[in-house]
Amino acid sequence: MQDITNIFSKDFFVKNIEDTKILAEKFAAFVVEKAQNTGMGTFVCLFGDIGAGKTAFSRFAASSIGVEEKITSPSFVILNEYHSGKIPVYHFDLYRLENVGIKSIIDELEQYSEGKMFTLVEWAEFSQNQIPFNRIEINIKYVSDSERTFTFKAFGKENEDLIRKL
Ligand SMILES: Nc1ncnc2c1ncn2[C@@H]1O[C@H](COP(=O)(O)OP(=O)(O)OP(=O)(O)O)[C@@H](O)[C@H]1O
Ligand SMILES: [Mg+2]
Repeated sequence: MQDITNIFSKDFFVKNIEDTKILAEKFAAFVVEKAQNTGMGTFVCLFGDIGAGKTAFSRFAASSIGVEEKITSPSFVILNEYHSGKIPVYHFDLYRLENVGIKSIIDELEQYSEGKMFTLVEWAEFSQNQIPFNRIEINIKYVSDSERTFTFKAFGKENEDLIRKL
């Protein structure tokens, strides 16, 4: 069981989509740096209402590490993967699984938390403690048409180091 009482967390206010791009690019650069320095991947769960910006953030992050393919929302296929960047990118959208199906995918998801890869998961609405592996949670809140707040939570020492640098 993870200790969730003392989770490192950091908030960012972004005033427009350009700011979101800058934040995503900075984040992705630290993900690559961590992969190069430690051999570890980064597993990210994105939360936020429809239209909050989960896909927008994922797309900016993936393109900035060199993904050349068009990055689409994986809503209909659950997983899109990209292999043209500095490290492989796996982009899940679990919206369609809803509550019943989500437990069935947890073991498969865990495999995507183990290698030197960058995994982004939209709608990972597991209950607290259901995800037993290290990860970063990003919560995006809609403020106005163009403004958002991003809250990053780190689970695991390496992820905490990464978020501290942001
Ligand atoms: N600062 C901002 N950051 C992110 N998106 C923004 C911002 N300002 C405006 N937007 C717009 O908000 C929308 C976000 O859509 P996006 O598909 O990324 O949301 P989502 O969270 O993935 O939704 P869904 O739950 O449907 O997958 C886009 O149209 C984007 O242009
Ligand atoms: Mg989306």
